[in-house]
Amino acid sequence: MQIVICKDVAEVAKTAASMVAKLVRAKPNCVLGFATGSTPVETYKRLVGMHKEEGLSFAKVCSFNLDEYYPIEPNHEQSYRYFMNRYLFDHIDIEEDCTNVPNGRKQRDLEAIKRICVDYEYRIEKLGGIDLQILGIGSTGHIAFNELGSSFASRTRLVVLTERTIMDNSRFFDRMEDVPKYAISMGIGTILETRHAILLATGRYKAEAIARAIEGPITSSCPASALQLHKRATFIVDEAAAGALERKKYYQHTQKLLRDLEQGGKGAS
Ligand code: PGA
Repeated sequence: MQIVICKDVAEVAKTAASMVAKLVRAKPNCVLGFATGSTPVETYKRLVGMHKEEGLSFAKVCSFNLDEYYPIEPNHEQSYRYFMNRYLFDHIDIEEDCTNVPNGRKQRDLEAIKRICVDYEYRIEKLGGIDLQILGIGSTGHIAFNELGSSFASRTRLVVLTERTIMDNSRFFDRMEDVPKYAISMGIGTILETRHAILLATGRYKAEAIARAIEGPITSSCPASALQLHKRATFIVDEAAAGALERKKYYQHTQKLLRDLEQGGKGAS
């Protein structure tokens, strides 16, 4: 696990965007995993900027989003498909057919929803898996819509949202009855299989969740703690979100020494 502590929101976005850009340049047909929520918006802005100003091309990239509300129409302003189009897809050269967001359209029955979930997993596998997955973290420690208690072996599935999540989301909807009670979410098992997971967190409000995810016990009561089992997980957090980390000084020391090594390596070559 790598912990990168940045001075502010802008530096978090810059660090995350440069990791994505580095991969896209090295492997133009890579598979990216995207997240929604307020945290990655700055990173997406930077990627759009790199596309426009530096010619960073996503023409061969495929993507999978972590989750989508259910039921919701893709053109609904609160759908995650709409969010991705608005903040990223509409401004870069990624092929629309290569962008995958779980289909949140109302289905006839549970069987039809299950087919959507199985198909989502199948599509990820068919493209060779996700190379780099961006993640946010909820203040309770959830990742994607994996609520507390989600199995670490879970796959893409229909999730029943908790009262708290529904209340949190209600501010985005005109009427309480319009707030979706379900979501389709990649599972923790799906996320653990990604080649590189990058979790972004900013602000004091996330400090407790970050400390529990990185330094707490591995438990389904903090779904993000599953990342301690990930073969390559990077936490990119700002000073405020790093505020409750017990070993903060050690992470900063590690970060500095690794940077020195990297720069020394470059100088020597
Ligand atoms: P946020 O959401 O980025 O809007 O804080 C993160 C999450 O709940 O996963």
